[in-house]
Amino acid sequence: MQGRPKVVRVDRKIDPSSIKEEREELDKVNAELVLAEFETEDDIIAATKDADAILTTFAPITRRVMESSPRVRVVVRYGIGYDTVDLDAATDNGILLVNLPGFCLDEVADHTIGLLLACVRKIVYYNNLTKSGYWARYHEMFIASFTGQTLGLIGCGTIGQAVAKRAAGFDVKILGTDPYVDKAVAKKHGINLVSMAELLKESDFVSVHSLLNKDTHHLVGEKEFRQMKPTAYFINTSRGPVVDEKALIKALQEKWIAGAGIDVFEQEPIDPNNPLLKMDNAVVTPHNAGWSDAAGRRARILVGKEAARVVTGKWPSHWVNKSVKPRFELVKGD
Ligand SMILES: NC(=O)c1ccc[n+]([C@@H]2O[C@H](COP(=O)([O-])OP(=O)(O)OC[C@H]3O[C@@H](n4cnc5c(N)ncnc54)[C@H](O)[C@@H]3O)[C@@H](O)[C@H]2O)c1
Repeated sequence: MQGRPKVVRVDRKIDPSSIKEEREELDKVNAELVLAEFETEDDIIAATKDADAILTTFAPITRRVMESSPRVRVVVRYGIGYDTVDLDAATDNGILLVNLPGFCLDEVADHTIGLLLACVRKIVYYNNLTKSGYWARYHEMFIASFTGQTLGLIGCGTIGQAVAKRAAGFDVKILGTDPYVDKAVAKKHGINLVSMAELLKESDFVSVHSLLNKDTHHLVGEKEFRQMKPTAYFINTSRGPVVDEKALIKALQEKWIAGAGIDVFEQEPIDPNNPLLKMDNAVVTPHNAGWSDAAGRRARILVGKEAARVVTGKWPSHWVNKSVKPRFELVKGD
């Protein structure tokens, strides 16, 4: 590589005061860090055409972007999911895709249990009622038990397992469905693997933790909601498009299920006219399940370190597209 390596952080909005850790890591290898806000794919292309590395949270890194950026060696995502990056295009172009598995798993697992308790205990509903001046009586409340119920996990990877660990403390029976998880690992986490149909039929709470890819798009839709108990609560902290949101709205409006706690949506930021925003039986948060100050800092350090390694000719410590043949030779680093 000739001259100073150029690392471009591209995102819709970037707070320049929140890139201290990445800058420190990149300064150590004398790499330049450039910030670029975008609105269109062409903006991303203009910003990254002479970059050696791209850092991003939610910018779509498409085939066109990668084919327009002949020097790019690596795309590093501030996150676990990588559905915003065209994985096949990265591999075809010899570009490594790096994500941060596990960096916020405790946050997401805590948030999942938080949403679940908020739904079952109707915390947001009674908070709003009490603040409006209405003091509800016991006979007006229907609140199901939490302890002793059955929780079904769709996706039993890192976060699903962390949710299982927390749920075990509530004496909840745990079912799981996941075509790829190691059976022994699931068992070790107290997850009893069953079919999707059995999980939906038996569970009092269903929580989704699968990755978003071609196979899991709308993994949960009308057919699945119709199989759930009318008393069941549904939680999604994975990715919006894993769930058919129109079917979820219908399931809540027509009371096929009791309620839902949703952190991720098919359109983000959420459309202000989305019916979920008006429903008493839906608790919503702004895709912040994975966020805490500590997790943010961990992510920024990891992103900076991984980019620094690759722009100085070393393999990153972890990458997603294992079969990639890098555009430029990389050596094993420490
Ligand atoms: N809301 C947030 O802020 C936030 C933060 C971090 C991660 N996430 C999301 O959480 C999800 C889980 O992350 P993780 O770290 O546990 O990932 P992971 O890769 O460890 O686990 C994902 C699991 O999904 C399983 N899976 C794949 N296809 C499936 C299918 N058809 N049915 C059921 N399971 C299937 C995989 O086998 C794997 O075990 C991801 O979608 C990630 O993007 C959300």
